[in-house]
Amino acid sequence: MTAHPRVRGDVAVLVPAAGMGVRLGPGAPKALRLLRGEPLLVHAVRRVAAAPSVGCIVVAAPSDAVDDVTALLGPLVASPVTTAPIVASETCGAAEPKLEASSESPLLPGSPLLLVVAGGASRQTSVAAALAAVPAEFGIVLVHDAARALTPPELVETVADAVRGGHGAVIPVLPVVDTIKEVDNSGIVVGTVDRSVLRAVQTPQGFRRDVLTSAHAAAVDEHTDDAGMAEKIGVPVHTVPGSEAAMKITRPFDLAIAELLF
Ligand code: CTP
Ligand code: MG
Repeated sequence: MTAHPRVRGDVAVLVPAAGMGVRLGPGAPKALRLLRGEPLLVHAVRRVAAAPSVGCIVVAAPSDAVDDVTALLGPLVASPVTTAPIVASETCGAAEPKLEASSESPLLPGSPLLLVVAGGASRQTSVAAALAAVPAEFGIVLVHDAARALTPPELVETVADAVRGGHGAVIPVLPVVDTIKEVDNSGIVVGTVDRSVLRAVQTPQGFRRDVLTSAHAAAVDEHTDDAGMAEKIGVPVHTVPGSEAAMKITRPFDLAIAELLF
């Protein structure tokens, strides 16, 4: 594949963060649960914002927490945090930042615009709500779970680069380390799956914008990831190496592991 010049700020990242975190146990919505004293969402957005390609971040927040999330994330960006409807497109994108970072800002000038929208009842509807808010100039859209709070900015860049290089849909993957067996309803093993052809899939998943829009428009059933919808409309999904640090925080054990990963 030929190398393509990187244009800073040509990528919008959707961050679904509206889930309740049932498997994590009782408490606040998962994205607002604390890891080392800060909400998972703050960790996730800080790392996404540190990726130079990212010009816009759209967070899908729990519908009753849009204002709280907007206030929470404000200090992370140099440009204003805005709830939908979308600001005028000329204020979006990091190539020509309109505001200087304040002296208190933890980020350099040029950090992305941040939009916060109300999420939906499912991950898929949350992603769709965030996608609808992406300003027109962003041709590359990544989808990244807030629950993968420690994902390194380098993985965001790797996925964005692969889309920029010509792939319509890109996912980060890791080899499967466990032996996987298929079982029947009574728990009896039916067969052993060939692990060498399996991959564990992470986020961020990257798409040409028209691919993601078409995939969501065509989706009938619920999918656990966006690449699944792209597959359904016949788009080849390219894989890139994932990162152990992009683990999804799902259960209390995962949160305990994440605490140790700093
Ligand atoms: N998500 C969302 N809107 C929903 C459900 C999930 O934006 N209605 C987001 C979550 O906030 C999370 C990501 O999708 O960042 C992946 O979902 P998951 O890990 O399943 O999180 P939860 O749905 O919150 O967890 P659980 O399924 O245990 O309730
Ligand atoms: Mg869920």
